[in-house]
Amino acid sequence: MEAQKKRIFSGIQPSGDLTLGSYMGAIRNWVALQDEYDCLYCIVDMHAITVRQVPADLRRRSLEQLAQYIACGLDPEKNIMFIQSHVPQHAELSWVLGCYTQFGELSRMTQFKDKARKHADNITAGLFTYPVLMAADILLYQADLVPVGEDQKQHVELCRDIAGRFNGVYSETFTLPEPFIPKVGARIMSLTNPASKMSKSDPDGCVYMMDKPEDILRKFKRAVTDCETAVRFDPEQKPGVSNLLSIYCAATGKTIAEAEADFDGQGYGVFKPAVGEAVVELMRPIREEATRLLADKAYLEGIYREGARRAQQLAEKTLRKVYKKVGFVAR
Ligand code: TYM
Repeated sequence: MEAQKKRIFSGIQPSGDLTLGSYMGAIRNWVALQDEYDCLYCIVDMHAITVRQVPADLRRRSLEQLAQYIACGLDPEKNIMFIQSHVPQHAELSWVLGCYTQFGELSRMTQFKDKARKHADNITAGLFTYPVLMAADILLYQADLVPVGEDQKQHVELCRDIAGRFNGVYSETFTLPEPFIPKVGARIMSLTNPASKMSKSDPDGCVYMMDKPEDILRKFKRAVTDCETAVRFDPEQKPGVSNLLSIYCAATGKTIAEAEADFDGQGYGVFKPAVGEAVVELMRPIREEATRLLADKAYLEGIYREGARRAQQLAEKTLRKVYKKVGFVAR
């Protein structure tokens, strides 16, 4: 009999079009891990409404995101892919876990502080309690591993703290998850401002997975570097060039030393378009396949419906256990 595989859960918010950052920080590893683990990959639409969304765009992007997951190489036969709002247990467990999370813990989350600064006129309770919903996502499925970019590490650590606290009060209930952060590509920076993370909400500094090749090339040609000419990895002194080198390595599979050797004595005029070309070639098959899949809405609907059905079965098991432990009367 085959040994029970370990479980993975991860998700991305459909709050903007998918970027090279989400690909290199997360999806690429999901694809690499899909054979070794039992995986659930989610489109976390409930997280997306923690900041204001245009409803039609949110709906469109949720479907596009599913098509992109598959186009990146996630096999719908092997992985459970679903939309968060289709599995009501996420909201239910989130309420319970919120009662085992401290105000002080949530106040310390750096992403909350950043987002509260950016959306100063709309700091909602949802934005504040968002890491609790994320903990519920992970703990509902007893995930062992959570493949994410560097920016989500703090949230996964809080999830472990909440799980450990609950287990301590009520006996073993939740598996404690580990974050899985890639060695290369864990923090892709903006092309226009290498001091800040590449994010969906910054169209110029960001490469979208569905960008046309000419747009990708233009963005790389304009990428901010420095006033030297040497292609050398040094995140402190040369953040722009180092970011481009990381992207080049993540796209080609080369090491930093190999990449530096490729561009030895060549200058940025050769380097920047070469990184652009590498990304164009990486994204081309994904964009083409996603476009093809998006034309078949019935196929996508079949996948997210079946995904939600299977996810609900797993989620309900955990939720029932939790409700019993906290003392709710069985329904
Ligand atoms: P989100 O939607 O902001 O990002 C999705 C994934 O992409 C990674 N990422 C990056 N990695 C490297 N460089 C970048 N510039 C970059 N930008 C984004 C993120 O680290 C993430 O892995 N809260 C999560 C979504 C979520 C989740 C979960 C993740 C909700 N529930 C449960 C894991 C498990 C988020 O907002 O990711």
